[in-house]
Amino acid sequence: MAETLDRRRILMLGAAALAAAAGLSGYVSAAFLRPLAAGRQRGAIVVGYPEDIADDGLVLLADARLVVGRTTEGFFALSLVCPHLGCVVRWLADEGRFHCPCHGSQFTPDGGVLNGPASGDLVALAVGLDDLGRLVVDPSAEVIQ
Ligand code: FES
Repeated sequence: MAETLDRRRILMLGAAALAAAAGLSGYVSAAFLRPLAAGRQRGAIVVGYPEDIADDGLVLLADARLVVGRTTEGFFALSLVCPHLGCVVRWLADEGRFHCPCHGSQFTPDGGVLNGPASGDLVALAVGLDDLGRLVVDPSAEVIQ
């Protein structure tokens, strides 16, 4: 009888340990699949007031991995993540172009691909004004061009 109880107790402890391991595994998997900067990326990013951006000016928001530019036609926003393999491109002011330091793709100031290996332009993002008249970018809203 005592042997049966011990066996039952061991089985229950084993089942509890398996359940705990499964729960922990599920939690870790969910945390891994969540975007890294989910809080920041879900909301619009405030850039500043339009009058603070010079004509043909660029505002680099490195933490958000995006750039906002102004042309005679208005404002635009681009993701700084290269469409090739996802490196963050850098702005080379002296050369007036974006450049991937890892693989060499180059892009115009408005995101057009100059040379590969990237085969497409930098992703354009939605830019607009908030209630206070500030420029805001929605990093999750790609603009189809
Ligand atoms: Fe695009 Fe490096 S990731 S060229």
